[in-house]
Amino acid sequence: AVGGTVADSKAVSVAEPLLLKAVRGDDVDRPPVWLMRQAGRYMKSYQMICEKHPSFRERSENVDLVVEISLQPWKVFKPDGVILFSDILTPLSGMNIPFDIVKGKGPVIFDPLRTDADVDKVREFDPKESVPYVGEALTILRKEVNNEAAVLGFVGAPFTLASYVVEGGSSKHFSKIKRLAFSQPKVLHALLQKFTTSMAKYIQYQADNGAQAVQIFDSWATELSPVDFEEFSLPYLKQIVDTVKQTHPDLPLILYASGSGGLLERLTLTGVDVVSLDWTVDMAEGRRRLGSDVAVQGNIDPGVLFGSKEFITSRINDTVRKAGRGKHILNLGHGIVVGTPEENVAHFFEVAKAFSVLPFSE
Ligand code: CP3
Repeated sequence: AVGGTVADSKAVSVAEPLLLKAVRGDDVDRPPVWLMRQAGRYMKSYQMICEKHPSFRERSENVDLVVEISLQPWKVFKPDGVILFSDILTPLSGMNIPFDIVKGKGPVIFDPLRTDADVDKVREFDPKESVPYVGEALTILRKEVNNEAAVLGFVGAPFTLASYVVEGGSSKHFSKIKRLAFSQPKVLHALLQKFTTSMAKYIQYQADNGAQAVQIFDSWATELSPVDFEEFSLPYLKQIVDTVKQTHPDLPLILYASGSGGLLERLTLTGVDVVSLDWTVDMAEGRRRLGSDVAVQGNIDPGVLFGSKEFITSRINDTVRKAGRGKHILNLGHGIVVGTPEENVAHFFEVAKAFSVLPFSE
């Protein structure tokens, strides 16, 4: 007989999650697939947990609930990535920045930071002490998922975190953080440095406790013009990547920024392994602009999941074909939207996972 038995080859194929192989550029039969915000309010099972546990902080800071919610989409859809249920703001209380996430309103920072003295009060983050439930949950998720998918951790990027704590919550015009950036840049830089050191540590902590890849969300960095991105975001992202690569050279880092079409080339300068595109960039064009070293994630409009099943299928085919073979993680271009029909999500995963002969261009 040639080579090992079928059982052998099966054992080999599950030893490493598809997502990790694809990021590295190994030859894969289909792109791995997961969805940003795949755990959450579009799922009936999540809404039922919300009824019993109305506080977001409780749902995201209790090990059993975090594990249960993270596994909800895993059990139903079997995605290739299982992301920790948490929030980019979760570390804030451990940094002495009290916050809440309020239903219908979103994030609320009780005492927004605006001055030197405010920034001085920010404590550097010690994940083991402040968020032990994150490490415990990741460890349990790794066991549960058992390498059939990659367990994904995530952090907020310094500029995006700063935007929340300076604005006091979500923002439309980002006027308060821009006032700080353009009138007292030193104060903002001091805050960004604290987030940078803390988030690098947090990524290392997540990896040490079971995360197999970590996504950095710089969702609002694209509110900055390119020159300002180069001052207030890029150096800090680069510092995070450099720091993490020193201790965890093989940990894939994924970078997402919403509406990043004007910044794609600059995003690759951070040194991340994967750039996550939103849907305002054509996948083929994005791929060309990013170059072949970096893997790409995305980039279907979350709104597509409100379309017919045929429409969803055609958009998946289009994206997969444009991304080309290898180094692609199929995903949405931003988080899944509340109200998305669960059956359409099921259809999305069915189609995405059924590729064996891909609609790849030759
Ligand atoms: O992807 C996942 O399934 C993991 C869970 C996850 C959440 N937030 C849970 C959550 C992740 C990865 C995040 C990241 C996050 N949080 C980002 C970056 C991604 C992005 O969307 O750009 C940002 C900017 C935040 C901050 C945040 N948290 C906002 C703006 C909101 C309100 C949004 C809303 O629709 O109300 C949250 C709350 C939040 N975080 C929810 C969930 C499921 C919704 C509230 C709830 O379920 O009660």
